[in-house]
Amino acid sequence: MTDPVRTHTVACLPGDGIGPEVTAEARRALDAAGARFGFTLHYSDLDLGADRYLRTGEVLPDSALDELRGVDAILLGAVGRPDVPPGVLERGLLLRLRAELDLYVNLRPVKLYHGVSGPVATAKPDDVDILVVRENTEGAYVGVGGVLRRGTPAEVASQDSVNTRFGVERCVRYAAGLAAAREGVLTLVHKTNVLTHAGDLWARVAAEVAADAGLRYEYAHVDAACMYLVTDPGRFDVIVTDNLFGDILTDLGAAVAGGLGLAASANLNPDRTGPSLFEPVHGSAPDIAGTGRADPTAAVLSAALLLEHLGERQAAAAVEAAAVATLGAAGRYSTRELGEQIAGNVAGVRVPPA
Ligand code: IPM
Ligand code: MN
Repeated sequence: MTDPVRTHTVACLPGDGIGPEVTAEARRALDAAGARFGFTLHYSDLDLGADRYLRTGEVLPDSALDELRGVDAILLGAVGRPDVPPGVLERGLLLRLRAELDLYVNLRPVKLYHGVSGPVATAKPDDVDILVVRENTEGAYVGVGGVLRRGTPAEVASQDSVNTRFGVERCVRYAAGLAAAREGVLTLVHKTNVLTHAGDLWARVAAEVAADAGLRYEYAHVDAACMYLVTDPGRFDVIVTDNLFGDILTDLGAAVAGGLGLAASANLNPDRTGPSLFEPVHGSAPDIAGTGRADPTAAVLSAALLLEHLGERQAAAAVEAAAVATLGAAGRYSTRELGEQIAGNVAGVRVPPA
C-alpha cells in the first residue's frame, strides 16, 4: 500500500513590486518538490500590500488574519511601494504578523555557496556558513515610546527597546538547539558595554542556556561582529541577537554571501501554536518590478526553509540544491527562466536518502 498523499496548506502573500514575480517561481519549485516527493500543497492567495491599502485603506483586516491562523505555512513575497508612506505596511503588516502569530525567531542563514563570488575576496564558502537567529517580537521593534512637542525646537522623541526574560530566553533556547545540532558554538551579539540593562539580561540568559546545552558560549559586540563577518566569518556557527542588531547584521551577512538576491528567511513560531512565515530578505524593489530581472533565488530558498519546517526534509534539500545549481546564472536569465530551470532541477537533483 502506498502512503496517502500528504497535504499542506500554504497562504501566499505575493505583495508588491517584484514580490508576485518571485513568489510565482518559489511556488513552481514547491510544486515540483511535491510532485517528486509525494505531497500536495493547497494555496490560498491573499491580496495584501500596497494595492489593497491604496484601494481600501486596509492593511491587515481581521478576516485575513483569521485565515492566516488556520494554514500550515505562509509564503510572502515583499511589501512596500514608494507611494505608501514608510511604516504603514512595515508596521501594519509585517511587524503585526510577526507579533500576532508569535513568530519569535527570525532565522536567517548566511551561507556563501560554492560558485558564488561575493564582494569579500577572502571569504571562503566553508567559512561563511552561519545561522543568525534574530529575536523577532521585542527590542526596538515593539513601538513603545513617543513624541512630545513635535515640530518645535523642544521636540522630544523616545523609542524604547523592550526585552523580557521570557522573550530573550525562548529565542536563545531555539538558537542553542540549532547550535547543538551543528558545531556547538553559540555566539551572542549585543552591545553590553553600552546597553548595560538589556545587554546584561541577554548575556546572563545566553551564558546560562549555552551551559545547560553543553555549548561553547562566545560573545561579540555588534560593531566587532560586523567586522568579523567580513574579516573572519569562520569564527561564527550560530549567532543569536536582538531584533534591531539582527536586522542590520543580516543585511551585512547577505552582502557577504553574495547579495540580497540570495538571502532567505524564516519567521518561525517554534512552538507551532500557529503557522510560520517565510520570505526573502530583499524588499519589493519597485525599480525593477515588471522587468523580469528579479532573482527568484531568495524566494526559492525561503520556500526550502518552509518545506523543512513542514517536515518535508528531502524536498527541502532538493529545492535548495536545485536553486544552488543555477547560481551564477541570475544575470543571464529572466525571473521566469530561472524559476523554470530551478523547478526542472528539483525533479532530478540528488538528495541524501531519507
Ligand atoms: C527585514 C526588513 C523589515 C525589518 C522591515 C521592512 C520592517 O528590513 O525583514 O529585515 O526591519 O525587520
Ligand atoms: Mn532588514
